[in-house]
Amino acid sequence: KTLESSPPFYPSPWMNPGVLDWEDAYAKAKDFVSQLTLMEKVNLTTGTGWEGEQCVGQAGAIPRLGFRSLCMQDSPVGVRDTDFNSVFSSGQSVAATFDRGLLYARGYAMGSEHKGKGVTVQLGPVSGPLGRTPEGGRNWEGFGPDPYLAGVGMAQTIKGIQDAGVIACAKHFIGYEQEHFRQSGEAQGFGYNITESISSNIDDVTMHELYLWPFADAVRAGVGSVMCSYNQVNNSYACQNSKLLNNLLKDELGFQGFVMSDWEAQHTGVASALAGLDMTMPGDTVFNSGDSFWGTNLTLAVLNGTVPEWRIDDMAMRIMAAYFKVGLTLDEPPINFNSFTLETYGPVHASVGGDIQQVNWHVDVRGDHASVIRNIGARATVLLKNVNNALPLSKPKFVAVIGEDAGPNKFGPNGCSDRGCDNGTLGMGWGSGSANFPYLVTPDSALQSQALADGSVYQSILDNHAASEIEALVSQDNIVAIVFVNADSGEGYISVDGNEGDRNNLTLWNSGDDLIKNVSAQCNNTIVVIHSTGPTLVADWYDSPNITAILWAGVPGQESGNSITDVLYGKVNPAARTPFTWGPTRESYGTDILYTPNNGHGAPQEDFVEGKFIDYRYFDKHNITPIYEFGFGLSYTTFEYSNLVVTCANAGKYTPTTGTTAPAPVFGNNFSTNLSDYLFPNGSFPHIWQFIYPYLNTTDAKAASADPYYGKTAAEFLPPNATDGSPQPLLPAGGAPGGNPELYDVLYTVTASIKNTGKLNGEEVPQLYVSLGGPDDPKLVLRGFDRLSIDAGQTATFSTDILRRDLSNWDPVKQDWFISSYPKTIYVGPSSRNLPLSMPLGQAL
Ligand code: NOJ
Repeated sequence: KTLESSPPFYPSPWMNPGVLDWEDAYAKAKDFVSQLTLMEKVNLTTGTGWEGEQCVGQAGAIPRLGFRSLCMQDSPVGVRDTDFNSVFSSGQSVAATFDRGLLYARGYAMGSEHKGKGVTVQLGPVSGPLGRTPEGGRNWEGFGPDPYLAGVGMAQTIKGIQDAGVIACAKHFIGYEQEHFRQSGEAQGFGYNITESISSNIDDVTMHELYLWPFADAVRAGVGSVMCSYNQVNNSYACQNSKLLNNLLKDELGFQGFVMSDWEAQHTGVASALAGLDMTMPGDTVFNSGDSFWGTNLTLAVLNGTVPEWRIDDMAMRIMAAYFKVGLTLDEPPINFNSFTLETYGPVHASVGGDIQQVNWHVDVRGDHASVIRNIGARATVLLKNVNNALPLSKPKFVAVIGEDAGPNKFGPNGCSDRGCDNGTLGMGWGSGSANFPYLVTPDSALQSQALADGSVYQSILDNHAASEIEALVSQDNIVAIVFVNADSGEGYISVDGNEGDRNNLTLWNSGDDLIKNVSAQCNNTIVVIHSTGPTLVADWYDSPNITAILWAGVPGQESGNSITDVLYGKVNPAARTPFTWGPTRESYGTDILYTPNNGHGAPQEDFVEGKFIDYRYFDKHNITPIYEFGFGLSYTTFEYSNLVVTCANAGKYTPTTGTTAPAPVFGNNFSTNLSDYLFPNGSFPHIWQFIYPYLNTTDAKAASADPYYGKTAAEFLPPNATDGSPQPLLPAGGAPGGNPELYDVLYTVTASIKNTGKLNGEEVPQLYVSLGGPDDPKLVLRGFDRLSIDAGQTATFSTDILRRDLSNWDPVKQDWFISSYPKTIYVGPSSRNLPLSMPLGQAL
């Protein structure tokens, strides 16, 4: 079998000075970049090396202009590796709120915390992985497998982060759907004998209609940076894949910011620069090698013409435009923390233990975010089952709380590095997507406080294996037993209990399923709370009559116990919706992790044969009945849907973009070509071991490069047009950030009436689905939602727009979007399988 390949696309698109909301940033960047020397430009693009300075990644500074270096810091749930920060709920959890306001509020609060620490780029949000397989280790970092929901999650989070004055980073671009084999070195550490990263083989239609969709929303929202991923796509590494970076991201989606590599995801120098990479992180080829594909080598590449001057200028422009766009100035306060120690004094250059001084100022950046986090935690909790009015609780006589997942980690909330264990209640998954907890309110402590305030009897057993003690407790009369269980996952550099990032299965951890069965065998009022990084198998016990309620509480962050107490006691009436499908079996998802290399020592090949049919689209296509469908979630009150009205906006026909760009500009283009002008400075300038510099250590270019292949000319090894700076044709689907602006035209507005028919005030999440009608289309796709607060007896109006893109398919031949002639139908209701209102779209015309 011949392996999939990725077509070339060159040259790399340069910034467009006239893009809406970027003009001002472009002008400021131009002023700044025009003052820079070649090596100063190189410094902006190249990290200073792993643990080279304070942040997880840091670009070079421009000391001559008093410009301090850019600080890149994880994570998508808070400021990683520091203190006096908050821990927010995961992306997947906040997605379950289906609430744009909460998505934004979380982004803004996280952005403010990063800003307060001196961070320039917050390394989030995530929609790669999207969630192709339910076991995917990092699915919890993103917003779930539906691209529309993920797109809203990306856009709202990015706006929040960037309004707070730091650059957001949409990651990981793209096809990064599993942890296994993402990097060959890491895989070798686990005993897999492979030499290249996995290749995600994705066809053009699936790419556009599924995986690229949320990134289009990110770009349209003005995201300043995008991180390319570890994996290959169609057998070309994501950080040097010209189809992905030049064509899809920069040309078609009109991305004006910069592309940063994931840590060590860069594999070449000139090739990655010309394929669209703008910044290499953390800068060294291999952690602490002291060598870089860029730094010195990028200086040399510009001098010898293999990287044209316009390309290095465009890299610098993109970085600085993103910087100015979010309101950063040339005079930012210093970075006040250090990722590699929590001690007040320590080395600035942790990699070599050098330069001991004050490195931590312990700035408390938490503000009033605890209340935001508690609120999101409650509003993200999905009520999956509630019978016999089990919930909400009201001064219960006797509360028993069962399970290790209700209690603390015996090593403390931060006891396992990067949360790489599953001890106690699950507040966060593991890996770089983590942050240190300031505290973690456990369900046990919060529920006990509530019980004591109510005068209830309260007893908890936090050992899953104390079978006889648990039986003795929960078999008593008048008891409500709340069982806490979990399932964890994380990033591939840590293995927990044999799970190398990705989960090995979908069962509950720590014998959770047995625990539930044991408790519910004794107690006819058993309530189950699941903390997890994705779906778990519930088929064995969910319909037991003794299990009166089931809740999914995701990974809620620091306020976990308070949030779940608010829901269980009805202080918050639940309305969240599951952002993924709960299937009856693992096989019912139709997709799985590739756990064993399948291409000898070469790149494991993961063919995305299911195309766009993941999660609910797969279940619908194959008529598999889920246990809980995508978009499902109950309330303590009830709602009735009526009165569907569709109004046509008469948007007119779609116009493909035409025309050409200006030629590639250069800024401040008068650099010397004499290699001796680029030597490491003499005299007092410090040379730090392993630090990455833009300088040469000799005027012998080949020796300075440390590259055995040095000396090839552009014509000898570069693809056609890779260095061409002449005007280029615009793409039909391009023309503005997010793609052709007409894709975002409103074609229809849909309204429906929703009445709260119960006795309690509540919130409801009406959802709009569309059937595009073609034989290759999913039965339904989500294309609108809102979260409405509706008091008992009241009626509210749900209103949502259908955009041109919402009705479009990708034409791989024309390379453009089109609306097919198949009849289209819209549906409105409370979940993907409960859609009481519908109307053929033609009827509305
Ligand atoms: C690797 C992870 O994939 C990425 O998400 C993270 O931002 C970097 N490491 C930096 O820690």
